[in-house]
Amino acid sequence: MRSEIIVDKVSLQYYNGNETIPALADISFRIALGEFCAILGPSGCGKSTMINLIAGFITATSGFITVNGAPVSAPGPDRVVVAQDYSLFLWKTVRANVEFGLKARGLRAGERRAMAQKYLDLVHLIPFADNYPLELSGGMRQRVALARALAVEPACLLMDEPLAALDMQMRHYLQDELLAIWTQTRQTILLVTHDLDEALYLADCILVMAARPGHIRATFTVPFPRPRSPDLRLTDGFQALKREVAMSLYAAVAG
Ligand SMILES: Nc1ncnc2c1ncn2[C@@H]1O[C@H](COP(=O)(O)OP(=O)(O)OP(=O)(O)O)[C@@H](O)[C@H]1O
Ligand SMILES: [Mg+2]
Repeated sequence: MRSEIIVDKVSLQYYNGNETIPALADISFRIALGEFCAILGPSGCGKSTMINLIAGFITATSGFITVNGAPVSAPGPDRVVVAQDYSLFLWKTVRANVEFGLKARGLRAGERRAMAQKYLDLVHLIPFADNYPLELSGGMRQRVALARALAVEPACLLMDEPLAALDMQMRHYLQDELLAIWTQTRQTILLVTHDLDEALYLADCILVMAARPGHIRATFTVPFPRPRSPDLRLTDGFQALKREVAMSLYAAVAG
């Protein structure tokens, strides 16, 4: 199953005591069925807020969000989030964390175990399956969060810097794994990242956000054919688009 995401004139204000924080203003975009879209933007411009809105964790002050035609009013099994803080269950083992969510999908114990094993293997964490999150490094915890989300194979995958804590080798390996999975499942993916190369290598489209209040500054189409392989990063076309997106991002950071 796949889902289209439509964000239509969405604004959001946070209220902190008597202070109003205009986090997002008049955001509109559409992510087509099975499209892979990346969001880049400076810290504090509202990227996580955008993810939380689509996930249904928070509600827009104005505007509408629909996923597969249905208005988003609460979290749902069609949308799974890899949160910036990993949000693991600290009292559950790594394996139990990854199995969580599969029960809700109606998988039996044996199927849950097999699925968890598949994704723990993918993120190279089989040796730590019976450990608890606090016994792992930050990058390992991040991989547990990724495995937990991928295992559910949701229609929409909403990822907030899912590879940020990883070394370059692991990051590149998981980028390729993510592409391989997506090629099979064609889930609709929204990925927040601070890594320009990651956005260009993975996505079909890139939204560049700017802050105060958060808005979309520019939208880029990423035209590189698929399947993509690591040497794409070295091509002139990749470098030229990277320069263009970087200029937009620097302007967004400057305000
Ligand atoms: N729960 C909250 N209450 C009040 N203000 C908030 C809350 N969450 C976020 N904000 C504010 O909203 C703005 C956007 O925050 P958000 O976390 O969405 O940014 P971000 O783009 O994800 O940043 P980063 O790249 O650092 O993760 C910031 O000014 C932040 O201080
Ligand atoms: Mg964030």
